[in-house]
Amino acid sequence: MKGIVLAGGLGTRLFPLTKITNKHLLPIYNKPMIYYPIQTLVDAGIEDIMIVTGGNNAGDFLKLLGNGSEFGLKHLNFAYQAKEGGIAEAVGLCEYFAGHDKVIIILGDNILENSIAGDVKRFERQEGGAMIFLKKVKNPREYGVAEVRDGRVINIVEKPQNPASDLAVIGVYMYDNRVFDIVKTLKPSKRNELEITDVNNAYIGGGQMSYSILDGGWADAGESIDAYNDTISFVRERQVNKHD
Ligand code: G1P
Repeated sequence: MKGIVLAGGLGTRLFPLTKITNKHLLPIYNKPMIYYPIQTLVDAGIEDIMIVTGGNNAGDFLKLLGNGSEFGLKHLNFAYQAKEGGIAEAVGLCEYFAGHDKVIIILGDNILENSIAGDVKRFERQEGGAMIFLKKVKNPREYGVAEVRDGRVINIVEKPQNPASDLAVIGVYMYDNRVFDIVKTLKPSKRNELEITDVNNAYIGGGQMSYSILDGGWADAGESIDAYNDTISFVRERQVNKHD
């Protein structure tokens, strides 16, 4: 299984912190933001990782991360997203990297307290399809929100005005190779992006979506300036990435 960390975009919700730098290079307690999602993949046993970046300071990721030796990796792969085309567009850039393998995608501003190694192993054994992680939140309007019925996700709505539940779809997604065909069928949304929620709804429509309720804390550091600051406190208090 191959890993993808998405670190593009303009980070407008954190402006002006992101006026001259990339959101994922900003500090979260004692490390740059992108260290946390990379560590989450490494802890799940993923050894082949692609970093997709764009926007400000795209070249700085190479200098910061090098060949990934700080994470015990032998090498890292980099891809460049030229425009702000959305999460699903960034995924599409990884088709040749993925080859015939399954992929796990993590958004570069998503920070998880606990390991997801067990779920990754479960998905590796699963024949195909997709798997997402859900987490109860107080502000579902800021996220993709899942509607669950009889133990199955039946629909996901991106940033709904009237959320069907308080279950946010967090920014970690596991897909079989069909994801690249699905991305090619997508049309830009109202915010002119290819939405990952549309990818997930395609798998739901095909009856191929499973889910796991995320164990432990989760933070989306890019959601707002308050979320960014709360994430720093969360990382400090829960000692996220305590093994180093
Ligand atoms: C993205 C996804 C959304 C998801 C969120 C998790 O939102 O579109 O479905 O709930 O990440 O962090 P964005 O941060 O791009 O607005």
